[in-house]
Amino acid sequence: MTTTDKTLLDFAEMVRSHSVLPREDWAVGPLKVGVDLGTANLVVCVLDAANTPVAGITHRSTVVRDGIVVDYIGAVQAVRAMKADLEKRIGQPLTQAATAIPPGIHHGSAKAIGNVVEAADMDLVEIVDEPTAAARFLGIRDGAVVDVGGGTTGISVLRGGEVLASFDEATGGTHMTLVLAGAMRTSFAEAEAYKLDTGNEREVFSVVRPVVDKMASIVSRFLEDHPGIDTIHVVGGACTFTDFEKAFARHTGLTIVKPAAPLLVTPLGIAHYQQAGGQAR
Ligand SMILES: Nc1ncnc2c1ncn2[C@@H]1O[C@H](COP(=O)(O)OP(=O)(O)OP(=O)(O)O)[C@@H](O)[C@H]1O
Ligand SMILES: [Mg+2]
Repeated sequence: MTTTDKTLLDFAEMVRSHSVLPREDWAVGPLKVGVDLGTANLVVCVLDAANTPVAGITHRSTVVRDGIVVDYIGAVQAVRAMKADLEKRIGQPLTQAATAIPPGIHHGSAKAIGNVVEAADMDLVEIVDEPTAAARFLGIRDGAVVDVGGGTTGISVLRGGEVLASFDEATGGTHMTLVLAGAMRTSFAEAEAYKLDTGNEREVFSVVRPVVDKMASIVSRFLEDHPGIDTIHVVGGACTFTDFEKAFARHTGLTIVKPAAPLLVTPLGIAHYQQAGGQAR
């Protein structure tokens, strides 16, 4: 198992069990905080100064859609509550944070995302591009990163550590659930629950497969303008399906790499961007 995958799996367990990295294991220096306001999930991650995860929390929510804050008060309340929960767990205030937006977002919408972080009483250090944050966590210097989230599929192309281009399209796990709800003649909520039950994975994947193919063709088209890419790293909750990489590989003809716990990659990457979130000791 790679170190990155181990970090991701350990962090997933930390989030699930509400546990905290023991204080004696924290690297000396300021803590770093990342706030990911996604369409399906809000995630707050805390890293130590050496980028080792200290604690994290996720909350399913619909206050943000495709990078646009649709319920500002609800978003602020949710981030405040998540922050308070983490502060209680780790025993110190979180004062600064970085956050992220899908690549194609309008300036005003980015500002609203930043305002949510500030209204939750954290100084905003940086607003980063989501797939680029994922690339940073994964340490990718060359290749493409595709973040298949709830509402958006974002892509960043990197060469020599530089981001050459980023792009996003309004498709993702929500689109998959809508297709499933149509096929099952049921509500969105029921289809979402059915989709998340891993016992139904094979059946669900066959139904949502056209959405995956469409995502792959969007990515392929974008990569036509960026020749020389041979590997795509897929992250985001909607690529969790076991056969996702196979379908993407068949469609794009490229090597597809998926980290363990793909849902947590972008949030952890966001936290890498800033230097201080309260003193560690
Ligand atoms: N095990 C799973 N199988 C299939 N889909 C999953 C699984 N776990 C999560 N998802 C889907 O992943 C999506 C959420 O992913 P993620 O948290 O990356 O999105 P987000 O960051 O909230 O959204 P966005 O980045 O598009 O604004 C949801 O549509 C959810 O249904
Ligand atoms: Mg996301």
